[in-house]
Amino acid sequence: MKRIWILFFVVVAAVWCIPVSGMPAYAQEVSALKEQLSKPLVVYYSRQGHARMLATALKNHLNADIEEIRSEKKRGVFTIMVEQLFGLHDRQKAPEKDLSQYNPFIVVAPIYFMKLCAPARTFIDRSIPEGKDVYVFTTSGGPLAGFTKNSIRSFVQKRNLNVQGVHGFQIGKKTQADFDNETAAFLAQHPIR
Ligand SMILES: Cc1cc2nc3c(=O)[nH]c(=O)nc-3n(C[C@H](O)[C@H](O)[C@H](O)COP(=O)(O)O)c2cc1C
Repeated sequence: MKRIWILFFVVVAAVWCIPVSGMPAYAQEVSALKEQLSKPLVVYYSRQGHARMLATALKNHLNADIEEIRSEKKRGVFTIMVEQLFGLHDRQKAPEKDLSQYNPFIVVAPIYFMKLCAPARTFIDRSIPEGKDVYVFTTSGGPLAGFTKNSIRSFVQKRNLNVQGVHGFQIGKKTQADFDNETAAFLAQHPIR
């Protein structure tokens, strides 16, 4: 009787490990799970549309999902000035997606007064789960200053996130096609995995 049980377990284990298209069943499951967990998510805040165009280009080139940061604050220049001067947080709706399912996070947002805008700071601070990989892409009128880049990097690191890159894009009079081309050229030089 004991032998029958041993035989039964050996057969079950063997069937479970039978290669399907060259890969054992458990390895296929692990690989599917890994793929699911490693889908990139582009997250963006945009007041006037440029960061949205950059986010769209990144989403398309990376085959990523996209989530808009839904700020509940109306933002004029005065509000922005106060937020940036005092490092205030944003008030925003909860993300629509289950963020634990994604990695890396690609945050796209404007620079105001040489700092990352409040909606992006709040999202990084409160919504991205600890331990995730984070890229930050900024949009700005001028080039991204070194000290601004460093302050974004240390802001992300302090939240127990793995900062993988901080990159600045200038807005100029660019169209969606311009952002698409620039993003393709950028990603060819700096791949995101
Ligand atoms: C109040 C305010 C402050 C800004 N400060 C800066 C700045 O310090 N450096 C810079 O290069 N651009 C600055 N800009 C330009 C913005 O970065 C630019 O308008 C933004 O990236 C556009 O993104 P959006 O179209 O997605 O809103 C500022 C714009 C505003 C409205």
